[in-house]
Amino acid sequence: MRTLFEKYPKEKRYTLSILQDLQKQYGYIPKDKLIELSQYMGIPLSRLYSMATFYKALSLKPKGKYIIKVCDGTACHIRSSKTILDEIENTLGIKPGETTDDGKFSLETVNCLGSCAIAPVMVINNKYYGKLTSSMVREILKEYGGADDE
Ligand code: FES
Repeated sequence: MRTLFEKYPKEKRYTLSILQDLQKQYGYIPKDKLIELSQYMGIPLSRLYSMATFYKALSLKPKGKYIIKVCDGTACHIRSSKTILDEIENTLGIKPGETTDDGKFSLETVNCLGSCAIAPVMVINNKYYGKLTSSMVREILKEYGGADDE
C-alpha cells in the first residue's frame, strides 16, 4: 500500500510538505509515521523531530477534544486578555501550545478572532465567548468539565 508520502519524490525539499500532509490527515504527526518518513527520506529522526517542533502548525501530540483559542490581538489585549489566559492556564494547568494530560483541552493564542467589539474573546471549538471576565472563564470551563466545582 502506498503511504501518504510516497507520492512525493525522495527529495529533502519535500519534507515539510509531507509533514504538513501528515498533520492534516491525523491532526498531529504520529511517531510511527515520523519513523517511516525518516527511513523513506534517509533523514535522521532527530532532524524530523526538530522540524516538527520548530513549526507552530505542526504538532507531535494529538490535539485535545476541545481546542481553546484565546485572542491576544490589540483590542483583546487592551481589555485584559492576559487575565483570561492566566485564568485558563491556572485552571487547566497548561500553557499555549499544550494539551492537558487527559487529552481534553488544547490551548492556543491567536491574533484576532474577528470579534473585536466583544473583546476579550475566546473560542472553544467553534463556539465564541465574548466580554469575558475571569469568573466567566471559570464557569465556562466548568461546563466543559475542565474546572472543579467549588
Ligand atoms: S483583537 Fe481579539 S477579536 Fe479582534
